[in-house]
Amino acid sequence: MIIRKSQGELVTMREAGRIIAGVLHEVKTFSKAGKTTKQLDDLARKLIKKEKAEPAFLGYKGYPASICTSINEQVVHGIPGEVVLKDGELLSVDIGVKYKGYFADAAVTVPIGEVSENAKALVEVAKKALDDAKDKAVVGNHLYDISAAIQKRAEDNGFSVVRDFVGHGIGQKMHEDPQIPNFGERGTGPILKEGMVLAIEPMVNQGKSEVKVLEDKWTVVTADKKLSAHFEHTIAVTSDGPQILTKL
Ligand code: MF3
Ligand code: CO
Repeated sequence: MIIRKSQGELVTMREAGRIIAGVLHEVKTFSKAGKTTKQLDDLARKLIKKEKAEPAFLGYKGYPASICTSINEQVVHGIPGEVVLKDGELLSVDIGVKYKGYFADAAVTVPIGEVSENAKALVEVAKKALDDAKDKAVVGNHLYDISAAIQKRAEDNGFSVVRDFVGHGIGQKMHEDPQIPNFGERGTGPILKEGMVLAIEPMVNQGKSEVKVLEDKWTVVTADKKLSAHFEHTIAVTSDGPQILTKL
């Protein structure tokens, strides 16, 4: 069952989303060679608390940090720690907050210093995939129109999409129905209705789509060790079209 939100609920989720956008902006600015991912996590937690919100990931199924920091071949769910960022790396930062009982969730991939041309292309394509997907979050469309748009953008550019992890509905829980794969058939899946809120999160790989989970039970990496990029927004389906809730 896909839960639809009232106008009032969307206002609250927009507030949660704005908090995430602000924190992501600060963390992005702070993410330079020489910083540890633990420093990013500390910064994010401090800023989330300052906004009277809670870090949604901390303690979720035992997850030990407030954000996810995934470097290079790490796709998602990298755990912040003593690892030091270096020029030329791709860093993906994923943040979720709970605010007044509602969740929002967003992620960006940022290049650290100068990165290779192919890495830049990967980041641009993943970002465009999310933008294409957003444009499909329209009343009357099918859910997998979103999925197909992501897959098309990635594959048309010679990249692949991760199939083992998906986007999701979001609201009073971080993960609600429906699951939103990053691949699918246009014109299939549930019909989108006003008030649905979707966390859409393309994970685009430079090489093959296969991934595996490291010993730490969290970090997802590409099986072929090639780069991966991840972008996510929490997006509401409204009568005025798609509304990105996780922006400033
Ligand atoms: N944004 C991630 C998702 O939608 C959440 C990270 S999982 C956590 O699944 F454990 F870190 F919370
Ligand atoms: Co998510």
